[in-house]
Amino acid sequence: MSVLANDGFARKLKPVMVSGREVLPIIEGGKGVGASNGKSAGAFAAAGAVGTFSGVNQLEFDAEGKVIPLVYQGKTRRDRHEELVENGIRAAISHAKMAHDLAGGKGRIHVNVLWEMGGCERVLEGLLAGAKGLVHGVTCGAGMPYRLSDIAEKYNVYYHPIISSMRAFRALWKRAYSKSQHLLGSVVYEDPWLAGGHNGLSNSEDPKRPEDPYPRVAELRRFMNEVGLNDTPIIMAGGVWHLKDWEHWLDNPEIGPIAFQFGTRPLLTKESPIPEAWKHRLMTLDEGDVFLNRFSPTGFYSSAVNNDFIRELRGREERQVPFATEPTGYMTEPFPFGPRKRPHYITPEDMERATRWIAEGYSEPMKTPDETLMFVAPAKANEILVDQIECMGCLSHCRFSNWKDHDDYTTGKKADPRSFCIQKTLQDIVRGGDSEQNLMFSGHNAYKFKQDPFYSNGFVPTVRELVDRIVTGY
Ligand SMILES: Cc1cc2nc3c(=O)[nH]c(=O)nc-3n(C[C@H](O)[C@H](O)[C@H](O)COP(=O)(O)O)c2cc1C
Ligand code: SF4
Repeated sequence: MSVLANDGFARKLKPVMVSGREVLPIIEGGKGVGASNGKSAGAFAAAGAVGTFSGVNQLEFDAEGKVIPLVYQGKTRRDRHEELVENGIRAAISHAKMAHDLAGGKGRIHVNVLWEMGGCERVLEGLLAGAKGLVHGVTCGAGMPYRLSDIAEKYNVYYHPIISSMRAFRALWKRAYSKSQHLLGSVVYEDPWLAGGHNGLSNSEDPKRPEDPYPRVAELRRFMNEVGLNDTPIIMAGGVWHLKDWEHWLDNPEIGPIAFQFGTRPLLTKESPIPEAWKHRLMTLDEGDVFLNRFSPTGFYSSAVNNDFIRELRGREERQVPFATEPTGYMTEPFPFGPRKRPHYITPEDMERATRWIAEGYSEPMKTPDETLMFVAPAKANEILVDQIECMGCLSHCRFSNWKDHDDYTTGKKADPRSFCIQKTLQDIVRGGDSEQNLMFSGHNAYKFKQDPFYSNGFVPTVRELVDRIVTGY
């Protein structure tokens, strides 16, 4: 804790008890698939903070630190899903070992999983069984992980649910977590308007009206105090850049013990596993370049850089017309669809638009689950179909391919061509694929890389340098 003994702002930062040890109140946010890993997590822990490697379909590393390529052999989605789960366990164990070795006994090591990832419970249990003593805590969001506390009990690790409202935590507490209070390591409040990755906006929250996190976290603290969780830290995630801006949260009884999670800033460190092109792109972003969208096959909102990949999805969303299978009301114009060219009826205005899109090369109409026709170029239509066929079941429910990881293995809904295969694109970008043509998750504050003097002249810090900088308040 020597770093906190410095004078100035650092003196105001209090160490917090996280997963059984006092650490700096600085947490590395877990980032799938491979945007935080054993190397980055080990570096955060070695700096006296909390490192979080992603346990979401990680890449497996060999003893020399090289990625072991994964080629799926299975003929069916179920077979490939099994391979994905087995690989996920092996890979996560390799990252736990790497993080543990690099940490040198300092800080804490957490693993992050998404409750809605395919085979989540199996991967998590496989990892915790295979990496006993190496992982101190599990952070888990995306969905309502009621069973998280049972798994934590079974393996005697701390658990850190990620929620975006007091109500969500209250439901988890009442139904499950109150029975495992001693292992509840913290409650992570993730700002659903600002954090990178998937965002937990509820139906009653307006994506265009961001809400101040202070009253929301104070409300969470009130509830936590009511049920005896006064000493359990809250971890504030999303939109945290300079801790100076959060000074009024420190030593504040309305907030209680507090730590801060960083997801976007660690992307630009020497240990960060993302490709160089992604790092460079982060340094050039302007305000508004990252925005909330609803394209993810999980059905959640998510925050990503507005690049060619997102623009192409926006184009699909725009090139859509509703149809009826019989002429009704204004839907009078027959549009031939499918191999048998069956007439589908659309409005005269939509017929004009569709004719224009076809002339522009978007000549392949595809049906969506919302009774619309969406127009794409033939090559894109083919890519969508191939991606759906090659699905390896990475989610518990996939809107893009209709895969489900249990029961009858289908969501029972039509596959939605307005979404995309998140597994394919995230695996591609983390392996060095084109950052314009792939999904680039990012927090909304990423434009600050360009403005913050810490990064001037293209400076990329080590994790240790970043942590040292953060404790100064900047
Ligand atoms: C590239 C990227 C990937 C992410 N992936 C995950 C993830 O797999 N699981 C998760 O719980 N959070 C994920 N997050 C959220 C971070 O862990 C963190 O909570 C968030 O980024 C904090 O907000 P900030 O981006 O403003 O720093 C991701 C964030 C980014 C930027
Ligand atoms: S199609 Fe859906 S479930 Fe299948 S691998 Fe892609 S994102 Fe995952």
